[in-house]
Amino acid sequence: MPQTAAPPGQAAPRRPVLQCVVLVVIALIAMTGLAVLIIWASVQPKKLHYSIEHGTVKGFNLSDDKLSSDFDFVLRADNPNRHVSLYYDRIEVTVWYEDQKLSVNNVHPFYQPKRNVTFVDLALVAKNATVYGATARDLRMERAAGEVNLNVKVRAKIRLKVGVFKIHRTLKVDCESVMVPFNFHRSFQRVVCHTDMDG
Ligand SMILES: *[C@@H]1O[C@H](CO)[C@@H](O)[C@H](O)[C@H]1NC(C)=O
Ligand SMILES: *[C@@H]1O[C@H](CO)[C@@H](O)[C@H](O)[C@H]1NC(C)=O
Ligand SMILES: *[C@@H]1O[C@H](CO)[C@@H](O)[C@H](O)[C@H]1NC(C)=O
Repeated sequence: MPQTAAPPGQAAPRRPVLQCVVLVVIALIAMTGLAVLIIWASVQPKKLHYSIEHGTVKGFNLSDDKLSSDFDFVLRADNPNRHVSLYYDRIEVTVWYEDQKLSVNNVHPFYQPKRNVTFVDLALVAKNATVYGATARDLRMERAAGEVNLNVKVRAKIRLKVGVFKIHRTLKVDCESVMVPFNFHRSFQRVVCHTDMDG
């Protein structure tokens, strides 16, 4: 009999037990990964839809290439998914005129349930924002014509919740050529936004 052999019934069974535990752990990890993939594939999230439903401008004052103004928008957020709900964790909104940023603000984080439409108020204030040369001239012309052509951009850190899983994503919503009338009696044309998502 070899000297290294373990006494029968003592040390020998340990190794198979340890191997078993390792195998079970590996199998569990693999199965969990597979389950996530299967769930993700089977619920295949539908695209989220965003649009600007309303926009107003108040206290508009452009003098010496400095702009002060209040902008208010109503963003419609449509989550058409049956299985996916959303956490909006960090939401930053900016308003642009041509290539100049006029204002930036954060929106309170919120939770959006499955198959839900939520209207989000976006309040943006331009305080003494510098508007350069040709852009200031264009802005004056639009003021005279009665409506201003703005771009609204939303950047958000979101989590998609599927069952017990949460998937982090960065959401980009671009709402271009939002025509905001200076006169309240003028009607507002809703703008469908372009949406993009990445990991
Ligand atoms: C517009 O802004 C200028 C400079 O910031 C200020 O002097 C003026 O009083 C403002 N006009 C109104 C109507 O608020
Ligand atoms: C969408 O969710 C929000 C927040 O939970 C809720 O207040 C609102 O009533 C929901 N809207 C619809 C159409 O279900
Ligand atoms: C706006 O900015 C200019 C120069 O940057 C400054 O002279 C002026 O006092 C500011 N006006 C207000 C209302 O903050």
